Amino acid sequence: MKIYEKGKMTGSRRLSEGIYELCIKTNIADKSKPGQFVMVYPKGKDTLLPRPISICEAGNGELRLVYRVVGKGTHEFSTYKTGEEVMLLGPVGNGFPLEEAKGHAVLMGGGIGVPPILQLSKELRSESVTAVMGYRTGDMFLKEDFEKYVKTEIATEDGSFGVRGNVLDVLREKNLPCDVIFACGPMPMLRAIKKYAQEKGIKAYISLEERMACGVGACLGCVCRTTKKDAHSHVNNARVCTEGPVFEAGEVDI
Ligand SMILES: Cc1cc2nc3c(=O)[nH]c(=O)nc-3n(C[C@H](O)[C@H](O)[C@H](O)COP(=O)(O)OP(=O)(O)OC[C@H]3O[C@@H](n4cnc5c(N)ncnc54)[C@H](O)[C@@H]3O)c2cc1C
Ligand code: FES
Repeated sequence: MKIYEKGKMTGSRRLSEGIYELCIKTNIADKSKPGQFVMVYPKGKDTLLPRPISICEAGNGELRLVYRVVGKGTHEFSTYKTGEEVMLLGPVGNGFPLEEAKGHAVLMGGGIGVPPILQLSKELRSESVTAVMGYRTGDMFLKEDFEKYVKTEIATEDGSFGVRGNVLDVLREKNLPCDVIFACGPMPMLRAIKKYAQEKGIKAYISLEERMACGVGACLGCVCRTTKKDAHSHVNNARVCTEGPVFEAGEVDI
């Protein structure tokens, strides 16, 4: 059941260059699971649509959202102050299938795909879980948060911290055991993970990012191509906001 309500800001701060967090008191927090997201409604008159932002952490009636400022909506979010009210709809989407975390699970986040992997790390916390985070440079965010819960490895594109390269380079260079992958990040990273998982014969659950308008399955603004036909519509489509954002990599044509 989705909740549409005003949440109350309990904190906000800058985490690194262009990356900010919002902490919000809301009933959505205790109803959500890792990989789900909320639609956040900007207040400006020229920003009509809500913005989808993943749940980075949730618990004790509070949501933590971590986002990159890219346009008008996210810029407005970065001006919010403690005590301010913010309209939310959520939790939205299916979330990661936690029951599939069998054997050695590797949780991968790239760029602004890092935040949703934090709540996943908290909930899957165990010796057999490793988080692998990819950043452009050593100006990282949430690294210390991951280290509280799981073994954490880092890749940076410029090689200024951890392994030079991407999240899959870490897997190969460190020879990490891997029976299943959960990932969120840019499309090239997800495509590479899909290929890697197919080659190794393992499952990968990937969280897709599509432009969204309604967030409730009504506008079809967020469809992605699937490998199988939908039983109702008989087309190779799925709505990322309702059937996703998390898909088993083999199910989607990316
Ligand atoms: C399921 C999901 C989870 C996401 N989680 C996060 C997150 O945790 N942190 C984060 O920083 N970003 C996340 N994004 C991307 C985020 O929604 C966009 O960066 C944001 O909507 C941009 O809004 P804007 O007004 O600042 O930019 P503008 O470019 O001005 O936005 C114009 C319109 O395009 C839409 N839009 C623009 N870029 C995207 C995008 N990449 N994905 C979807 N819609 C977009 C906006 O919602 C808005 O309706 C997520 C996107 C999806 C689909
Ligand atoms: S955003 Fe409208 S159907 Fe997904």
